[in-house]
Amino acid sequence: MDDAHSPGRTDVAGDYLPGFGNHLSTEAVAGALPIGRNSPQRVPFGLYAEQLSGTAFTAPRHDNRRSWLYRLRPSANHAAYRRYSGAAALRTAPFDEVAPSPNRLRWDPLPIPTAPTDFVDGLVTYGGNGDVGAAIGVGIHLYAANRSMERRAFFSADGELLIVPQQGRLSIFTELGLIEIEPQQIALIPRGVRFRVAVDGPSRGYVCENYGAAFRLPDLGPIGANGLANPRDFETPRAHFEDRDEPTELIQKFQGGLWTTTLDHSPFDVVAWHGNLAPCRYDLRRFNTINTVSFDHPDPSIFTVLTSPSDTPGTANCDFVIFPPRWMVAEGTFRPPWFHRNVMSEFMGLIHGAYDAKEGGGFTPGGASLHNQMSAHGPDRATYEKAIAADLVPHKIDDTMAFMFETRHVIRPTRWADEAQTRQRDYDQVWDAFAKAELPR
Ligand SMILES: [Fe+2]
Repeated sequence: MDDAHSPGRTDVAGDYLPGFGNHLSTEAVAGALPIGRNSPQRVPFGLYAEQLSGTAFTAPRHDNRRSWLYRLRPSANHAAYRRYSGAAALRTAPFDEVAPSPNRLRWDPLPIPTAPTDFVDGLVTYGGNGDVGAAIGVGIHLYAANRSMERRAFFSADGELLIVPQQGRLSIFTELGLIEIEPQQIALIPRGVRFRVAVDGPSRGYVCENYGAAFRLPDLGPIGANGLANPRDFETPRAHFEDRDEPTELIQKFQGGLWTTTLDHSPFDVVAWHGNLAPCRYDLRRFNTINTVSFDHPDPSIFTVLTSPSDTPGTANCDFVIFPPRWMVAEGTFRPPWFHRNVMSEFMGLIHGAYDAKEGGGFTPGGASLHNQMSAHGPDRATYEKAIAADLVPHKIDDTMAFMFETRHVIRPTRWADEAQTRQRDYDQVWDAFAKAELPR
């Protein structure tokens, strides 16, 4: 077990503890963490012990995720929840508002709101799949916010949240500690963990709400023991709490419904915790990108950061995949992403720069695209013409960070996404006007 307070320990992560899914121990007040047992008769300082279970008690050990929290008041200390009327554009699977279309869809960036809007009320669901009641699938949201959450907190009982900022820094105060991220970093908040988000100005980004098995690092197979997202680069915050006896709104998402209650205290009162169920952050710029040094390029699964497996081996409930800066050296090869029809469904976003399949523009930072099961997609004409004429010298794609939520189930858009002003009605034209191949006569 990693112990943040072991004498002589070198802590390279500052306020964070390094590693993915590690068993960690941390206390914000010396002596708060019980030693040698989880639930002593009397917890130090009269704190309340509470287990937070992220998997069934009996999940196999390598899958089992839980933490023990030691807090000023038990979480159970709350009045009944009432329906919440904000976050009007947040939706949950099953998605049946509009008929799923076989068409390729693309959206311009979500506008930053003009009215005061925080992270929770700024969430807009573009689509998703599966069924939250069956713990299958994902919800895909974007957020656009311009103010911090004040005296209120949020959690999703429906899934873990993978937060991918595109504009603006986020300070995410969670029950287990404080996570700060900027664009090109991500945060992963386990199902049920309460948090509030502070912004430093106009902010925008993407959220994958994962109803299924928790995201984990992919197996590496013949790649070996190192590479892609290395475990040490994930950072979990140390225990950090506030002792505030003031009314705090607590909003939860439960089976798609939003519910609210008011506590007479801050829910961020966990003084110490230990376990392996905790929020973390990761800097996408630390991804060890692996690709060909001969010809062709591997399938984009080579860029998988995190995967949520399904019951079918190798067929993810959701993969989080990035397209980071990288050298292109493939010989005799069409180097951009190829034309493709996929049994898996692909929702893409762009965090920074330009994406190497869309030289012709239209896919801009903060935008999104959806290429569903078996829909034909690939490079635009400008990309294609440039690639087949290119001198194949080593070339660095430097100024880019795109990503994909790739899932085994068709992503069904919401009515909002279907009817949005930002949806590009002319997206199909990207693939117009490719010249016909000429066979020898
Ligand atoms: Fe694809």
